[in-house]
Amino acid sequence: MNSKGIFITFEGPEGCGKTTQIKLFTKYLKKMGLKFLLTREPGGTKISEKIRNILLDPKNKEMSPITEAYLYAASRAQHTREKIIPALREGKIVISDRYLDSSIIYQGVGRNIGIERVLDINKTAINGLFPDISYVLLIPPKIGLKRARNVSSKSGYKDGDRLEQENMEFHKKIYSGFMKLPEIRKGVFILDGNRDIKKISHEIIGIFEKKYGF
Ligand SMILES: Nc1ncnc2c1ncn2[C@@H]1O[C@H](COP(=O)(O)OP(=O)(O)O)[C@@H](O)[C@H]1O
Ligand SMILES: [Mg+2]
Repeated sequence: MNSKGIFITFEGPEGCGKTTQIKLFTKYLKKMGLKFLLTREPGGTKISEKIRNILLDPKNKEMSPITEAYLYAASRAQHTREKIIPALREGKIVISDRYLDSSIIYQGVGRNIGIERVLDINKTAINGLFPDISYVLLIPPKIGLKRARNVSSKSGYKDGDRLEQENMEFHKKIYSGFMKLPEIRKGVFILDGNRDIKKISHEIIGIFEKKYGF
């Protein structure tokens, strides 16, 4: 299914360091002369980015959890077909900032829809496309939110986007949900995100090199 390419996702709570680590990892891929495509969820295509705006808008307070789950899946359905699968067929390494695991944890655990139900909703959306490697960066919720607020205050929503505005109990559920992800799927690596940026990057590259023999 993943054909010639490699599909890698970065997951974890707000502010855990996904964007920071993706930058370092793609710098490494460039140095190695490996072709890659960088993308993100929700979003990644024109249609998916429109759905992203609906999902993150703090004004959409009345959104029901099940609507949220379907919107994420709809955004993903377009993203896999229009962008991820074609790039993998060309033999590229595709890096996505969030993917299926975020739905499993945010909607399945955080919104209490249930992991099985979220997997079921996503089954047709992903069409069998599971990541080859998923890096989950974990930091205690308090530290993560502080980091994320610094970033989003610079880029748009004053008090954080719709999900960042959730209460501490929600974020604690997300944290423990991500911890259990390796029990749900293969290829998930939990990394301590509360360490030196370079050390984490070194570990990420190490896992990649071990698996693909570089
Ligand atoms: N290991 C780390 N230690 C300290 N600060 C970090 C670390 N990783 C990222 N940060 C900082 O935390 C903030 C959020 O990081 P970011 O990579 O944007 O997280 P995410 O994309 O997961 O929300 C940024 O200001 C970033 O510089
Ligand atoms: Mg980010």
